[in-house]
Amino acid sequence: MKPVQEHGPIDIRPATVADLDDIVNLEKKSFGDQAWRREILRRYLQSGEDNPTRVPIFVAFAKAANGETGFAGYTIGCRGGKDNGMVLDLVVSPEFKGQHLGRALLEQVSESLKDAGASRLTLEVESTNKPAIRLYESVGFVKDRLLPDCYGEKRDAYWMIKPAAKGPRPGP
Ligand SMILES: CC(C)(COP(=O)(O)OP(=O)(O)OC[C@H]1O[C@@H](n2cnc3c(N)ncnc32)[C@H](O)[C@@H]1OP(=O)(O)O)[C@@H](O)C(=O)NCCC(=O)NCCS
Repeated sequence: MKPVQEHGPIDIRPATVADLDDIVNLEKKSFGDQAWRREILRRYLQSGEDNPTRVPIFVAFAKAANGETGFAGYTIGCRGGKDNGMVLDLVVSPEFKGQHLGRALLEQVSESLKDAGASRLTLEVESTNKPAIRLYESVGFVKDRLLPDCYGEKRDAYWMIKPAAKGPRPGP
């Protein structure tokens, strides 16, 4: 795995169980009754640290407007079958939005998934979530298909894919 990025005042690192409360609170605030449950997040954090295909949850810390450094967001990825990697979750705390932290977290989990053997990345996103869709498109994800009623009645999702990057052309 490449070293965890540091983006000036933004610090991104693999999460530990000590980060669980921050993750659970922000998850609930962002997704309400669709939020991942604490127990599932705890198990994810504790599971398979010796498994080479596992990728960590990444957490981000940044300086807030008051100058204090705080918990700013997180992202969760996992390896799927074959060469597939899934971005399962990505959240930036409201006070830190619009500072390219979401993109930095997305790049970090994508890099980590690639290091774990995933060349093709996938995710699902609610079809009305324009900020997230624009973010995903800005790093190369494309809408693959609509998943009707994915989050409940009339709450559709897009399945998005970032195809494997083409390698350099072979030399002469
Ligand atoms: C989606 C989310 C992670 C974006 O985080 P962020 O740190 O504010 O996003 P960034 O600052 O990195 O923005 C990167 C790009 O995303 C797009 N974007 C982000 N917020 C946007 C908005 N409100 N409107 C339109 N485009 C937006 C832009 O293309 C932006 O690039 P630009 O600033 O160069 O134009 C954040 O809004 C969030 O946590 N939302 C709630 C949780 C959620 O919906 N997660 C996605 C689940 S699939």
